[in-house]
Amino acid sequence: MKKSIFLKRLLSVSLAAIVSLHLLTSCGNGEKNTQDETSGYTIDNIREYVVGVDEKVELEDGSKRAIINFDNAATTPALQPVSDEVEAQMKMYGSIGRGFSKKSDYSTDLYNNTRSKVLQFVGADEENYTCFYVNNTTDGLNKLASALITDEKDVVLCTRMEHHANDLSWRERCKVIYAEIDKQGRVDYKSLEKMLKKNKVKYVAVTAASNVTGYVTDAHRVAKLAHKYGAKIIVDGAQIVAHRKFSMIGETPEENIDFFVFSAHKMYSPYGGGAVVGLTSVLNKHMPEFYGGGIVTIVTDQEQNYKNAPASYEAGSPNYPGVVGLGKAIDILQEVGFDAISEHEQKLNRKLIDGILKMDNAVVYGDTEDISDRVGVVTFNLTDVNSYHLAAKLSDYGVATRRGAFCAHTYVWRLLGVPDEQAKEYVECGDAGVPGMIRVSFGIYNTEEEVDEFLSILDKAHGECLKEMEIMPYRPGL
Ligand SMILES: Cc1ncc(COP(=O)(O)O)c(C=O)c1O
Repeated sequence: MKKSIFLKRLLSVSLAAIVSLHLLTSCGNGEKNTQDETSGYTIDNIREYVVGVDEKVELEDGSKRAIINFDNAATTPALQPVSDEVEAQMKMYGSIGRGFSKKSDYSTDLYNNTRSKVLQFVGADEENYTCFYVNNTTDGLNKLASALITDEKDVVLCTRMEHHANDLSWRERCKVIYAEIDKQGRVDYKSLEKMLKKNKVKYVAVTAASNVTGYVTDAHRVAKLAHKYGAKIIVDGAQIVAHRKFSMIGETPEENIDFFVFSAHKMYSPYGGGAVVGLTSVLNKHMPEFYGGGIVTIVTDQEQNYKNAPASYEAGSPNYPGVVGLGKAIDILQEVGFDAISEHEQKLNRKLIDGILKMDNAVVYGDTEDISDRVGVVTFNLTDVNSYHLAAKLSDYGVATRRGAFCAHTYVWRLLGVPDEQAKEYVECGDAGVPGMIRVSFGIYNTEEEVDEFLSILDKAHGECLKEMEIMPYRPGL
């Protein structure tokens, strides 16, 4: 009797496995699932696949044109194959990790298998590292900080270059000290080591690339220093993932990165996904202050037992489209290739920087000669006009940039040479806005022709701002 029940169960389990394998392969070969296709995406043809790149918008003067999108550091447009993939996978969507259905099994497998893809993308091995999903970099850094900081006296070493996401997440939870920047605005590694020597630092939190100057931090050098002084390293990868190959593994074990955080919407998958990759042994010792379903083995009247990472970091129903889009975006970026992306960006950076510097009263922030360690982010001012006025004019002509301090206030005040008190005064007086600069940030699809057109629009917009000085007068730093 017992034996026949056992055999029946075995048969039904095997059948279930065969059916789900069939569903997996049939969807894998479906028209819209581009996972297995050899698609041929390159730096030269990728523009054809950018959603909305030719969409015309109405400008101030009533004319219509496709905008020049130079605001890719904020967010990137979707790639068509990413968006197709998200749509295709909706056919097989079921609840993740909770349901009893073939669709649920399929979705859960795809969701979990994408973790391996993310690990491979950042060079991390499955033996030592775990990937958990988040909504974006801000969410990831806050989750990580709420898990890792166990005492408000813990010391975190940041740099003055950080985006607020990698500064305030720590500031609000523990003591934060800062490594300074050097004269050109790069991380000052000597100042960083001095801080490590002088303080008992638990974590070093640095950006992989700046959203203000595009400088790429030597994260492996920082890792080596952090480990030498007994700290662990967290790297904010928001601005690197769509620009340069990043590996968490260094040339020696001391150079390995312990935690890496990034957003999918900055890599052509604006569906709300992101990921944290971190040391499994450390993640399993902690939990974020974020509780709910999916993270427990059992809850009784008196107690609750939590699962290990990644589940313990993913309370609640997950963002499946975000994960599907992220996986597809990784495939495409890897196919286009980071060498080609970086080479292309360097060309655009060079052309843009040289073009701006030819203009009257131009300041380009950061090193304008050696640009080899800068991703496609260029910030500047034309110092005889108000940068807010100028950015608004550019927008009127159909160019998307960003103007301000880019959620990196302490860095921008330093680059502008504006003291804190003056910055505060501007903000408090209300009508002036924050001191700032204009940022151009490139995506893989931007072209040299767009840079040429931008430069001629900039010249025109500048002339108009000078004529309309009474509308928005120039003030130092604005
Ligand atoms: C360097 C850096 N870190 C963190 C963030 C925050 O990213 P998100 O808005 O996706 O959370 C940004 C966003 O611009 C960034 O540039």
